[in-house]
Amino acid sequence: MALYDTLGTTYGRTRRPDPRIAARIHAALGDATDVVNVGAGTGSYEPARTVLAVEPSRVMVAQRPPGSAPAVCAVAERLPLRDGAADAVMALLTVHHWTDPAAGIAELRRIARRRIVVLTWDQRMFRERFWLVREYLPAAAAFDDSRAVPVDRLAAQLGGARQEPVPVPHDCTDGFGAAFWRRPHAYLDPRVRAGISLFAQTGEDALAPGLAALADDLAAGRWHTRHAGLLTLDTLDVGYRLLVADV
Ligand SMILES: C[S@@+](CC[C@H](N)C(=O)[O-])C[C@H]1O[C@@H](n2cnc3c(N)ncnc32)[C@H](O)[C@@H]1O
Repeated sequence: MALYDTLGTTYGRTRRPDPRIAARIHAALGDATDVVNVGAGTGSYEPARTVLAVEPSRVMVAQRPPGSAPAVCAVAERLPLRDGAADAVMALLTVHHWTDPAAGIAELRRIARRRIVVLTWDQRMFRERFWLVREYLPAAAAFDDSRAVPVDRLAAQLGGARQEPVPVPHDCTDGFGAAFWRRPHAYLDPRVRAGISLFAQTGEDALAPGLAALADDLAAGRWHTRHAGLLTLDTLDVGYRLLVADV
């Protein structure tokens, strides 16, 4: 059974693509005529020119909106596609789930004719800049240390890639890890946490003490005093990066 057959049951509800991030991804795809989306999930950020989605979880595929590109159940490490099958290939917030990221990246390079776009994050930056993992959830930070693929390594595996920061809007509609950086109460909601693999995989027992401390700090006004500076920002760069490679 694919991991997201259990993690992904509510994905479509909390992980709605954010239009500002979509614009960044679509710009990175450039004038590619056809796109394959690997680790496609429910189809977030797929441009209209997407010809195929590759996704191992049937639960995720079942949440793709009607009219989406066709989906095939497969993994990045063994793409059922011929060499040079698509002008561009994208892989968004998925590489950290692959059992063999190097093999998956080699497959992206094999099937892309011109462009590869990967959305990932810089774990060192994320740990330092995202208050939730830094101050409250060290177990989650440690879990991410174990699975995040260093961006420089990914860029090298891609044969060289431009790295573009992706600041997170304060009202981001895609509820990924740091999406609620200016809406701290959201992290106390189990439905929000269920849509974030970092928390779902770290486990509620390990998160409980930190979440209790966050609830106390919010109730006492301590979080707002300590993070007053954040409340004046519209976007925050916590380390999300678009890697854009020309093949
Ligand atoms: C956080 S979701 C991202 C989905 C989508 N790209 C998005 O941005 O919303 C991660 C996805 O990667 C998929 N995945 C996990 N292991 C994979 C693998 N080895 N190859 C391809 N996709 C994989 C999961 O099933 C899941 O749908």
